[in-house]
Amino acid sequence: MVRKPTKEDKFSFGLWTVGWNAVDPFGTGTREVLDPWVYTSKLAELGAWGITFHDNDVFPFDATDAERDERVGKVKKAADDAGLTIEMVTTNTFTHPVFKDGGLTNSDRSIRRFGLRKILRNVDLAASLGATTFVMWGGREGMEYDSSKDLNAAFDRYKEGLDTVADYIKSQGYDLKIGLEPKPNEPRGDIFLPTVGHALALIAELDNGDVVGLNPEVGHEQMANLNYTHAIAQALNAGKLFHIDLNAQSGLKYDQDKAFGHGDLSSAFFTVDLIEHGFPNGGPRYDGPRHFDYKPSRTEGIEGVWESATANMEMYLMLAEKAKAFREDPVTQELMKKAGVFELAEPTIAEGETVEDLLADRASYEDFDADAAAAREYHFVELYHNAMRHLIG
Ligand code: GCO
Ligand code: MN
Ligand code: MN
Repeated sequence: MVRKPTKEDKFSFGLWTVGWNAVDPFGTGTREVLDPWVYTSKLAELGAWGITFHDNDVFPFDATDAERDERVGKVKKAADDAGLTIEMVTTNTFTHPVFKDGGLTNSDRSIRRFGLRKILRNVDLAASLGATTFVMWGGREGMEYDSSKDLNAAFDRYKEGLDTVADYIKSQGYDLKIGLEPKPNEPRGDIFLPTVGHALALIAELDNGDVVGLNPEVGHEQMANLNYTHAIAQALNAGKLFHIDLNAQSGLKYDQDKAFGHGDLSSAFFTVDLIEHGFPNGGPRYDGPRHFDYKPSRTEGIEGVWESATANMEMYLMLAEKAKAFREDPVTQELMKKAGVFELAEPTIAEGETVEDLLADRASYEDFDADAAAAREYHFVELYHNAMRHLIG
């Protein structure tokens, strides 16, 4: 059997995950709501290393300063007592009706200013608790009707808002980075920054983009019919993979937020393979938290909540073990060689070579035998299948 998770595994959970009482658009909650500090202690018992939360997972939207301090203090104490790290804090700009048209891109300027203030206040809180990532999921930044907004102005306001928060983090000297979390839809019909690619493009246009990166979620890329492993790979390549939300999704449906690996298992395998073992030719690595953002299904009681929390961690550990065996298998290495996995790391233009040199290189074009080259076998299927042998063989 798989070993028990330890703090070295760097597993963390949002308090809103285990803390979700299973209310959905069609029914009321099916579980009781425990205090956030109760979830905190229990997660530590199960082997987690860290926790994360939205401001309003811990204290209500309209909390007084005294109530806010008291409740944050209790979560902090529970985390300290259990040796848990509060690694990420995020702001809820989606539950209260004031945010029904978003925070940073709301058409109402007074709401945009209020949203910014709520976010900035929470940046201070995040820094004071020692969090190093500040996730911004703009779930309500979007629209249902294409005539609702001047889209150009909406992107300008989005960038203005992000730049303001990033500038504040830098001016305060906080050791904090922003992780944007893309999602194509739900709760809005169309959400701005629907995918990792869209977010990367917007970050490149920010004045303070150096402290802004990504928090990609498995299910969100899959809701856009995209490949999660490719998404985090491109974020890594751009030096922008600051945080991750691991969970599972089965196809193009509502945001299922299932336990990690309980959707596209082979995709989850390659995600873990990349996180644990890096790119085959080396390169940027992710060493941040293995953060789960899932929802225990509505059918589950409190026992099911803890079973499913454990399932996330156990799944990750099982996949990490299988991926290790896959990478170390000499058959894999041989097949990777045949597939050209290592060849791809060699630059197409040699060092010092100019484009004129390339144009003068007859072997590269005039004398190139395209038919002979086309006959090459790549063995991609056999290489993939060898991964499946390790995964389920
Ligand atoms: C979702 C999102 C949210 C965010 C969270 C942190 O399920 O659509 O993943 O859970 O991750 O609000 O900002
Ligand atoms: Mn989700
Ligand atoms: Mn998420």
